[in-house]
Amino acid sequence: MLIGRCTLSLRVLVLMPVGSCQIAPAYAQAGKEIWRYFMSQARLAKLNYTTYHQREAYVTVLHSSEAYVWGAIALAQSIIQKNSSKDLVLLHDKSVSGKSLRDLRAAGWKTKWISRIRSPFAKKDSYNEWNYSKLRVWQLIEYDKIIFIDSDLLVLKNIDEFFFYPELSAAEQNYTTYHQREAYVTVLHSSEAYVCGAIALAQSIIQKNSSKDRVLLHDKSISGKSLRGLRAAAWKTKWISRICSPFAKKDSYNEWNYSKLRVWQLIEYDKIIFIDSDLLVLKNIDEFFFYPELSAAGNDKVLFNSGVMVIEPSLRKFEDLMLKSFKVSSYNGGDQGFLNEVFTWWHRLPKRINHLKVFSKQGDKEHQVGDNPYAIHYLGLKPWMCYKDYDCNWDMVSRHIFASDSAHKKWWQVYDAMPKKLQQYCALTKHMDKRIKKWRRIAENASLANGHWKIKPKDPRQYHIVDNK
Ligand SMILES: *[C@@H]1O[C@H](CO)[C@@H](O)[C@H](O)[C@H]1NC(C)=O
Ligand SMILES: *[C@@H]1O[C@H](CO)[C@@H](O)[C@H](O)[C@H]1NC(C)=O
Ligand SMILES: *[C@@H]1O[C@H](CO)[C@@H](O)[C@H](O)[C@H]1NC(C)=O
Ligand SMILES: *[C@@H]1O[C@H](CO)[C@@H](O)[C@H](O)[C@H]1NC(C)=O
Ligand SMILES: *[C@@H]1O[C@H](CO)[C@@H](O)[C@H](O)[C@H]1NC(C)=O
Ligand SMILES: *[C@@H]1O[C@H](CO)[C@@H](O)[C@H](O)[C@H]1NC(C)=O
Ligand SMILES: *[C@@H]1O[C@H](CO)[C@@H](O)[C@H](O)[C@H]1NC(C)=O
Repeated sequence: MLIGRCTLSLRVLVLMPVGSCQIAPAYAQAGKEIWRYFMSQARLAKLNYTTYHQREAYVTVLHSSEAYVWGAIALAQSIIQKNSSKDLVLLHDKSVSGKSLRDLRAAGWKTKWISRIRSPFAKKDSYNEWNYSKLRVWQLIEYDKIIFIDSDLLVLKNIDEFFFYPELSAAEQNYTTYHQREAYVTVLHSSEAYVCGAIALAQSIIQKNSSKDRVLLHDKSISGKSLRGLRAAAWKTKWISRICSPFAKKDSYNEWNYSKLRVWQLIEYDKIIFIDSDLLVLKNIDEFFFYPELSAAGNDKVLFNSGVMVIEPSLRKFEDLMLKSFKVSSYNGGDQGFLNEVFTWWHRLPKRINHLKVFSKQGDKEHQVGDNPYAIHYLGLKPWMCYKDYDCNWDMVSRHIFASDSAHKKWWQVYDAMPKKLQQYCALTKHMDKRIKKWRRIAENASLANGHWKIKPKDPRQYHIVDNK
């Protein structure tokens, strides 16, 4: 088994069996890394540890002077004393003498000559003029994985298990900076109907003290005023040109849903949690950035729901998706069907990270969402399209499965907690108000059993109707 070359995918396999939560570790908790414990268990469980770790080495570099020779000798000895089974490789330039090299070899280093590399921006004769010599470690292709250690360190415990980590793993100097290349992303295109939803989504993420960036992709249908509101709600906004779904019918509800694929172009981030704008985050979900592409919650037993996805941006993948979009058809013409065709291997996240607000069980009259969900996906008529104290899904028999007073209430709690200037983006339009009243009348006339139509809404928004966009 040529495992060496596959360490990364093996890592993924061992830690996160695709499509199963059975032996997946507990979720990483910021700073706690429960999964490291899991990893050490895996080692005890008699994987053929010897074969598996063959092409790995500790490497250090000496250049420009002999000042660090004794440091390197002590470092090698400290690693050996902790019974490491790895190779030790020392790169050195010509400034290290023959005698020093003999001592270094006796200490356990395999020595290898390099020519040092000048740092183009360092001042001449400065202390860091030749520090780019360290980059030569990437030339050691006889190894799959290297732990580079400066010669002024000493190893106090066996750290062989850290070969498990991917390039470039390092100790954090500053946790905040370290996690900067991760972001929540949403997309608005084709109409302004979801602007309020996106504002509430950003606010819900912030209210849970997330430390990640938030990026909103939008096409030209989003007005300047809306963009100011979205930015005030803490989105970084980024213009995109929308993408047509080749298999969708013209003017259908999902004609432009492939615009979502543009998240793969955000290569300024390593990892993205994509969230549709009709979701609300109820708990901090930053820990889910830990999961690989493509992680998502199940829509049903077989498919994932594309409303929440962990993805890893890549321009090549984006190109590949675009090419495939003309060959692979989607079961519903939308992005979800397409992505399920392309990402047949996906990692299953718990449903509560994308709790679909749908109640199809017989006898469940209350439609309670409870406190379990990390995020609710507001299927059906959106909360901001109804009255604050009136979930209008109750008034249409075909939408009863989406009706939930408890979910509705949770959305409006986020609304109440957000700044007044943002609330104005959630005003009722004439169109929305007309629709609510019409269906309420029909429900009343039909005396719908849920009796919801008897409620007299107090929502002040009903007295401040704005013009349709
Ligand atoms: C583990 O790998 C070593 C080195 O290749 C080999 O000698 C040994 O037989 C293997 N052990 C098992 C249990 O496969
Ligand atoms: C290293 O191995 C030796 C012999 O097996 C053992 O006595 C010693 O305790 C080990 N040292 C460490 C730090 O594990
Ligand atoms: C550059 O290398 C020198 C000599 O190896 C070392 O003393 C110094 O700390 C390094 N500086 C940086 C900024 O890495
Ligand atoms: C960590 O990085 C952040 C963002 O760059 C910075 O604001 C903060 O001061 C840094 N903290 C420390 C302890 O260096
Ligand atoms: C967010 O942080 C504030 C201030 O540190 C704290 O009072 C609040 O409880 C935190 N909220 C959550 C949901 O963790
Ligand atoms: C497509 O996008 C529209 C507008 O953003 C949304 O209402 C609809 O649910 C999406 N359809 C699918 C299948 O994703
Ligand atoms: C009310 O219901 C009756 C019969 O059930 C029907 O004839 C009438 O058109 C309905 N009115 C409205 C406004 O829907």
